[in-house]
Amino acid sequence: MKVKFIISALFLWAVVLMSQAATQHHLVLSTENTSIGITANEGGRSYIQYYGAKIDQGDIRKIFALGSNFTSLSYPTFGIHLGGGAVEALSLQMPDGNMSTDLFLQSVEKKNDAGGECLVLTMIDSVYPVTVKQYFKAYNSSDVISTWTEISNKGKKSILMNKFASAAIPLQRGDNYVCHYHGKWASENYMFETPMPNGQLVLDEKEGLRTAWYNNPSFMITADGKPQEECGEVFGATLLWGGNYKIQMVAENNKFTVVAGINNDNSAYTLEAGETFTTPEFAMTYSTQGKGGVSRAFHRWGRKYALQHGGQVRDILLNSWEGVYFQVNQEKMDQMMQSIASLGGELFVMDDGWFGEKYPRNDGTSSLGDWGVNKGKLPLGVKGLTDAAKKHGIKFGIWIEPEMANTKSELYEKHPDWILQCKNRELTKGRGRTQVVLDLCNPKVQDFVFSITDNLLTENPEIAYIKWDCNAAMMDYGSTYLSADRQSEVDIRYHMGLRNVLKRIREKYPDVVIQCCSSGGGRISYGFLPWFDEFWTSDNTDAYQRLYMQWSASQFYPAIAMASHVSASPNHQTSRVTPIKFRFDVAMTGRLGMEMQPKDMTTEEIEFSKRAIASYKSIREVVQLGDLYRLVSPYDHKSISALMYANDDKSHLAVFAYSLEYTHNQQVPYVRLTGVDENKNYRIKDLTPWNVQKPCFLDNKVVSGRALKYAGLKLKDILNRPFSSVALELVAE
Ligand code: GLA
Repeated sequence: MKVKFIISALFLWAVVLMSQAATQHHLVLSTENTSIGITANEGGRSYIQYYGAKIDQGDIRKIFALGSNFTSLSYPTFGIHLGGGAVEALSLQMPDGNMSTDLFLQSVEKKNDAGGECLVLTMIDSVYPVTVKQYFKAYNSSDVISTWTEISNKGKKSILMNKFASAAIPLQRGDNYVCHYHGKWASENYMFETPMPNGQLVLDEKEGLRTAWYNNPSFMITADGKPQEECGEVFGATLLWGGNYKIQMVAENNKFTVVAGINNDNSAYTLEAGETFTTPEFAMTYSTQGKGGVSRAFHRWGRKYALQHGGQVRDILLNSWEGVYFQVNQEKMDQMMQSIASLGGELFVMDDGWFGEKYPRNDGTSSLGDWGVNKGKLPLGVKGLTDAAKKHGIKFGIWIEPEMANTKSELYEKHPDWILQCKNRELTKGRGRTQVVLDLCNPKVQDFVFSITDNLLTENPEIAYIKWDCNAAMMDYGSTYLSADRQSEVDIRYHMGLRNVLKRIREKYPDVVIQCCSSGGGRISYGFLPWFDEFWTSDNTDAYQRLYMQWSASQFYPAIAMASHVSASPNHQTSRVTPIKFRFDVAMTGRLGMEMQPKDMTTEEIEFSKRAIASYKSIREVVQLGDLYRLVSPYDHKSISALMYANDDKSHLAVFAYSLEYTHNQQVPYVRLTGVDENKNYRIKDLTPWNVQKPCFLDNKVVSGRALKYAGLKLKDILNRPFSSVALELVAE
């Protein structure tokens, strides 16, 4: 014991000596338009000094000269050094009970990893065998820098991690506003903008599984003043973690820090001797062009790095859910496939209700876990459906909810121990009063969940699309697989298990399109998207409410990933009656689909839908791969809403505008097209006229970019009734 103490003391002394002779690096890591400045004192501490618009190496010293540097520890630890009010990113309890961690910088390395340039700070505790590697990665051709850490136990005894955040980023304290997205089922992601108070503002999730439901893990903070679309400085960030998370914004004494990571509440994690824990990436950007700049940076980065097939346009689909709900059978599926094919669609997705032999899935009370086709409903099996799709010249997709079981299922009868459960307590049951959650901490359960997708895809290689659903919370926080002293790790290990399954699926099936659905938009998060192509935005398909939800989802998530379906009127969730043109014009701003029984449409609606689908195809690339400019926000209550997309060289644009109410005798704003090229002339086309003989007055006009940007469009006469709308295509001449 004594010898150990002497060695430790000697080490500390060496560290102190080293710090006196320290090499001080002032490092600047940049993207095209942003930079982070870090001081790394070898043998000393590392500090974040700057994060914002792009600077160069010389500027960092000038920032010091101005005294405007942050000097904020790059990875603050608990126990010593932190002044009152400061918040730690790392809190460890050493094997001897010591609650403090004290990190000194050992080395700095710059390296290139897949997709970007990385700065790696290696830090060691002055006394205990703990190493932390902190990464800052500047993604190529994007304005996103991400950061995360690797925490290693180099000793012989386990260490308890009480907090292990991914990042602690300082920002300038000013008249900061926080923009965040909050909701629940059928009202996902409503946008809120609020002044940052002194003290703390926390965004977190404890739901366990649908971890973007209440609070989305993406948020923005303005540098000074109310958020604007195309001006002002704005910090935007998101955490790439599907489990519970915690984002603390701490503003005290003129200091402002964002600490973000896995939610450590009730989630202490034991780091075994020799183990390394990697915290999830925290991705961020900084824009001098308002919120629009943040969104475009995240959309570009998302398409390139953080979702599947981000460069490939998506098929136009019909999903069976709102058309037939659980009443799936061969005949109806065949008819729906025929319908969507004749409308010009390219894919049909059979939703819930197709499986369960012993217990047929006729409602939400049974069968999850029993992924065999119900032969009563589908005598020809999945093959019968993929054959029918082929006959109609479209692709076929299928719904699964693989992380779940019902207590009324063969799976539950066979493996009750595979369910998440709290010792000595009755199971909590969700949907249908029978739904329970599989224990993905258990590798055997991971294999089972993998096999659901694997079997479907090996037996039916024609399946082109999977809708992966998750309709429960982590209702019972307990695992029969984990030992008693590891129960606090359930949510973390569940999500590690889920990642493992998704990784295996992606390795074996790189081409299949997979939708991330979770009771609607419960998983709209970059914590899941890296394995998915898109998300289901909400079970609320009312086009009017979708204007609000899609507006806020678009703050971070690109249109290509935003599933947006035309559904029946009156709407099944809200009973609102809206014209089919309005419903199409809204759905066309995302990944267009339909979710209704097409055979219930009138002849006029069918003809309109055919034309709208054909028109969407002409702007699909612009919407799905282009840059978004939000023009008039529905949240501003100006009676209308408008947005536009532009391709890279702004030669091809798509513009959408909607009335939200009866605008007669109201002031309707001019819609200035901020995303045009001023020096181009554009020919305008009305994309979705209800009557092809009577397109809107703008149709076929050729106008200059300057006129569109500075004078704008006067849409009062077009947007004159509630739910009137216009969709325009602009092509440079
Ligand atoms: C969830 C999804 C819906 C649908 C149903 C099926 O609610 O969000 O889109 O798939 O499950 O049960």
